[in-house]
Amino acid sequence: MSEYHNPVLLNDSVDALIIDASGIYVDCTFGGGGHSREILTRLDQNGKLFSFDQDVDALRNKIDDPRFELVEQNFRFLKNNLRIRGIKQVDGVLGDLGVSSHQFDTPERGFSTRFDGELDMRMNQNAKLSAKTIINEYEETDLARIFYDYGELSGSYRLAKEVVKARTEKQIETIDELKQIFSFIPKMKENKFFAQMFQALRIEVNDEMAALKDMLMQCTDVIKPGGRLVIISYHSLEDRLTKRFMKNGMFEGEPERDVYGNWSAPFKPLQSKVIVPTKEEINENPRARSAKMRIAVRNEE
Ligand SMILES: C[S@@+](CC[C@H](N)C(=O)[O-])C[C@H]1O[C@@H](n2cnc3c(N)ncnc32)[C@H](O)[C@@H]1O
Repeated sequence: MSEYHNPVLLNDSVDALIIDASGIYVDCTFGGGGHSREILTRLDQNGKLFSFDQDVDALRNKIDDPRFELVEQNFRFLKNNLRIRGIKQVDGVLGDLGVSSHQFDTPERGFSTRFDGELDMRMNQNAKLSAKTIINEYEETDLARIFYDYGELSGSYRLAKEVVKARTEKQIETIDELKQIFSFIPKMKENKFFAQMFQALRIEVNDEMAALKDMLMQCTDVIKPGGRLVIISYHSLEDRLTKRFMKNGMFEGEPERDVYGNWSAPFKPLQSKVIVPTKEEINENPRARSAKMRIAVRNEE
């Protein structure tokens, strides 16, 4: 197991992605490079892989291979970054969303409820917005919206009110100080509650839903007909967006159909059922337990 990150659904995702060993592929979420390394083993000498990550820590896992290039960018700029490299279309795009084990397990990054540390949660350490700014500066209604929309927390208005009350006395600096505000949450519910709250803050800090939407939309242009889109997600919000996009080419509502009930969807889901890790994989790597994988094929224009 890699110390940085143990890749999830490794063989299933790469099997689904590679349609041509000489093709061009993108790994949107390089992390520890587990998926990227596996993709490279499946490519011949003409194949090419561009891997994205916005976290400078991921650079240390860079792969020394002439077929490989690490792009230190947010994947929401996928299309432009390929264009400036002279690439118009690729054979497949993989996204293994969310946070790496390295990010979770580094206390000062502020992603984990298990440690005290700065209220940070930025995947890109050069980004301006951190969890500390959100907790100390966002309006009460915006805090409530984030808690509800991204954390699916009930009583979000009351939770937001508690934050605002606490910060009028003293700026909230650390994870322990944030947890202290919610000391009224029953012990047996604490773990789930803080997991949901941290998820909400992390999604807002990194603008995760908008970044995912941007990347998926660009895949319509970037993936060639017959090419593959493979997305592994770790919470229902990401999975819902992915599922709707793969089915309808949009995130909300229903596509306009012709009189025969047809419409020209950009992608076709390869399976209607979501793919999840086996019990054996989850036993070996408990962080795989919430993973859901969806695969789609780019339709002909
Ligand atoms: C679950 S890990 C990927 C692990 C990787 N598949 C492996 O095998 O090691 C997710 C990675 O994607 C990166 N990431 C998440 N959202 C991103 C985005 N919008 N743009 C670029 N990188 C992103 C994170 O920094 C993290 O390193």
